[in-house]
Amino acid sequence: MPAPDALTRFRSLLHEALEQAMLVKLTLGKPRPGAPDPSLRNVFARPVLLKAGPHISLLYRHATRDITKNLSPAEAEATLLALLEEAFLDAHLFTPLHGAQLEQSADAARPARLRVKTAASAPPLAPATHDRGKARVIAPEAPWLRALGVTNERGQPREGMSHKFRQIEKFAELLRSLLGEAGLSTRDQTPPAPRLDPGPGVPPIGLHRGVSYPPPADAQGVEGAGLNLCPPSSLRPTAPLRLADMGAGKGYLTFALADLLGEGAEIVGIERRADLVATCNHVAADCGFAPRLRFIEGDIPAPPAPHPGGSGIGHWSLDIGHFSASSAVADGGKAAPAPALDALIALHACDTATDDALAAGHAAGARLLVVSPCCQKELRPRLTAPPVLADALRHGIFHERQAEFVTDALRAQLLECAGYRTKVFEFVSTEHTAKNLMIAAIRPASLAARGAEFSPDSSTLARVRAFAAFYGIREQRLARHLGLSLA
Ligand SMILES: C[S@@+](CC[C@H](N)C(=O)[O-])C[C@H]1O[C@@H](n2cnc3c(N)ncnc32)[C@H](O)[C@@H]1O
Repeated sequence: MPAPDALTRFRSLLHEALEQAMLVKLTLGKPRPGAPDPSLRNVFARPVLLKAGPHISLLYRHATRDITKNLSPAEAEATLLALLEEAFLDAHLFTPLHGAQLEQSADAARPARLRVKTAASAPPLAPATHDRGKARVIAPEAPWLRALGVTNERGQPREGMSHKFRQIEKFAELLRSLLGEAGLSTRDQTPPAPRLDPGPGVPPIGLHRGVSYPPPADAQGVEGAGLNLCPPSSLRPTAPLRLADMGAGKGYLTFALADLLGEGAEIVGIERRADLVATCNHVAADCGFAPRLRFIEGDIPAPPAPHPGGSGIGHWSLDIGHFSASSAVADGGKAAPAPALDALIALHACDTATDDALAAGHAAGARLLVVSPCCQKELRPRLTAPPVLADALRHGIFHERQAEFVTDALRAQLLECAGYRTKVFEFVSTEHTAKNLMIAAIRPASLAARGAEFSPDSSTLARVRAFAAFYGIREQRLARHLGLSLA
C-alpha cells in the first residue's frame, strides 16, 4: 500500500488534535492565487472553553479587519480543511506532542510537503483545553512504552502511534474498572466490595447495551471524575493474581496490565510468533517486569473436553509457563482448588482464537474474561438468512456485519449460560481502531468456589438455542468447548 500523501497525513493529525482536545494552535497562511476572498491573509485557530463546552475559535485576518467565529471541533475541522483546499497553501499545526508544517504548491503537479517535529519546540498546552491536569492510568513516560516503540524519550507518542497509545490508555482504564468489578482488585480508599457503579462508559454488568467509550468529549470532566483516575500504584489486587493474555502480539496490552497491577500479579502472554515473544521477553527483562511478566511461544491451549452431561470443566491446570495451579476437578460439594487463572484477556485474536481463549479462561476458573473479537469467519458461511432478512443479506457487507453480530451476541449468551454476567460495548472510539467491540464477562463471587462447573439454566439455554436457530446455526466453536448443544 502506498504511504499516505502529505495532505492526508496532515488531515489526520488535525483530526486527532481536535478529537483529543490537543490543539494548541493552527495557522493558515500563504493565500492561494485566485482564492475566493483576496482580502483574507491568514486564519488562526485556537481552543476556547465556552459555556457550551470546548470550542475552536477561528480568527479570520483580512487586509483591514479581523473576524472571529467560534465553532464546535467538528465544524472547525470541516471549515479548516475547506480553507486549506480553497484559500491557503500553508498550514502550521501545534499540539503538545508535535508541530506539523504543511507546504502545498500553487502548481498542482508538485506534491505537498509535510514536516513533523516532535515537540520540544511546540508551545505549551493552551490553558483553555479541558484535558488539563488529567491523571493517567499509564504514565506516558513508562520505559516499556518507549521500548515497544509507542512513545519517544519525552513520553510523547511517536508519529503514527497516537491511536495505539490512546488504545492502551483506554484499555488500562477499562481493565482497572473491570478488575474492581470482578472483586479482583481494590483501590486506595476504595472498599473491597464489588463496584455497583462501574463509571461512565462502562454499562453496569448484566446489561446488554451498546455504549460508546469513551464518553463524549463535551461531557466535561466525566472521564476523570467517573473513573476516579489515580496513579497505577493505587490499584491493589485483592490477592496475588494470575492473568493470561492470549494472542498477545506485540505485548502492548500485556505490559499495560503488568504496569497496572504491579507486583501483585503474575502475567503470561501467549503468542504463536516466536519473534514477538522474544522481543517482549527482552523488553520485560529490560524494564524490570520479569519474571512476573513473561511471554510464551505457542498456540492458545485447547481446554479439556467437557464432562459428559455438559455440566462443566472444573479447574483446569493451564500448561502455560508453570502457573502453579491445581488441576483437580471441582466436585460441587467440596472445597474447590484455587483457579489456574483469575482473569483472561484476548484482544483481536483472530477468528475462533477468541472462542478458544474464552474457553481456556473459563476452564481455568477465571472470574474475568475480556475479549475484543476480530474477523468472525466461522459462522459467515453457515448463516442462513431468515426469510424476512434474505433480501437485505444478499449484500455482502450486510451479511458480513450480520455474521459479526450473530457471532459475538452468541458468545455473550453462551458465557451467560456458563454463569458469567456479560456486557458488550465499544471500548475505544472507532478513530483509534475499527475493531473496537469488547465483550467483558464476570463470574460472580458466589460461583467462584465452583470453578468452571456450571449447569445452564434451562430458560437461558432455550433462549440461546432459539437465537441460533433463527440464523440456522447448529454449531459454534465456543458452544462446543462448553459442551453446549445449540440444536
Ligand atoms: C491482531 S494481533 C493482536 C495482538 C494484541 N492482542 C493486541 O490487541 O494488541 C493477534 C495476535 O494473535 C496471535 N494469534 C492468533 N491466533 C493465535 C493462537 N491460536 N494462538 C496463539 N496466538 C495466536 C497472532 O500471531 C497475532 O500476533
